[in-house]
Amino acid sequence: MKNKIKKCLFPAAGYGTRFLPATKAIPKEMLPVLTKPLLQYGVEEAIEAGLNTMAIVTGRGKRAIEDHFDISYELEHQIKDTSKEHYLTEIRDVITNCTFSYTRQIEMKGLGHAILSGETLIGEEPFAVILADDLCDNDGDAVLTQMIRLYEKYSCSIVAVEEIPMKDTNKYGVIAGDTISHPELDSGSLVRVNDMVEKPDPKDAPSNLAIIGRYILTPDIFDILRNTKPGKGAEIQITDALLEQAKNGNVIAYKFEGKRFDCGSVDGFVEAINYFYTKE
Ligand code: UTP
Repeated sequence: MKNKIKKCLFPAAGYGTRFLPATKAIPKEMLPVLTKPLLQYGVEEAIEAGLNTMAIVTGRGKRAIEDHFDISYELEHQIKDTSKEHYLTEIRDVITNCTFSYTRQIEMKGLGHAILSGETLIGEEPFAVILADDLCDNDGDAVLTQMIRLYEKYSCSIVAVEEIPMKDTNKYGVIAGDTISHPELDSGSLVRVNDMVEKPDPKDAPSNLAIIGRYILTPDIFDILRNTKPGKGAEIQITDALLEQAKNGNVIAYKFEGKRFDCGSVDGFVEAINYFYTKE
């Protein structure tokens, strides 16, 4: 199929200051929930959605990410044919099922800037974005799989949204728009976006629908990002660039099925660990 999505971009260059001192020498995306790093959960979600090319935007001090998605010959040699070999099964599967490419964001100028830094790895094709610190889980199809199905129908940018308490709107990009009906989805699950604000005060928020860390983006986003001025927090915001696409009716927000844990915050991280520990 033309324009089939193959690549997933993982912006992973942020400082992770909320997890200092843990994140001084270890990338936030490598913090484990039980035994698996956050980023590996994200890569597995992308593989499940049928993507085979992982494009990772890293920064200084993030080399552990590249080592993780590579063979460790010494380790392989030490545990081959021993009772411990099964501990490597999952990561071996990941490494053999996709390819990894990397670029560095030189200055941390925000999520929009990190996505623009990934252009060299993506090129002129639609792509998925996963923020690994938003950890998602669903007993049915994974969140990205649900979104790819929508992209195949609507061929425009798709953002995953979740209802949040009004008092928390200042932590998220918040959207508003008109409901689209879809025969297989609950009413209100799809919204054609016509407004979008980054981290609004509750009194200025257009709704309580917050964007979480899953996106499908069409490649025109790169030119828009190139021309996007720094916004909230003096950072280049993906929300501002998406608003440009939304003005032409080209952004759909999707209330996904599943759970999401904000592992960029200590509370969400602890919640995720408890959830996966009880689930296993
Ligand atoms: P966050 O704002 O949650 O990450 O960005 P952070 O800045 O690392 O966290 P704190 O606030 O300091 O604790 C969401 C995602 O975007 C990436 C981050 O790595 C994270 O996965 N990001 C953010 C970049 O890659 N580059 C940036 O300039 C900013």
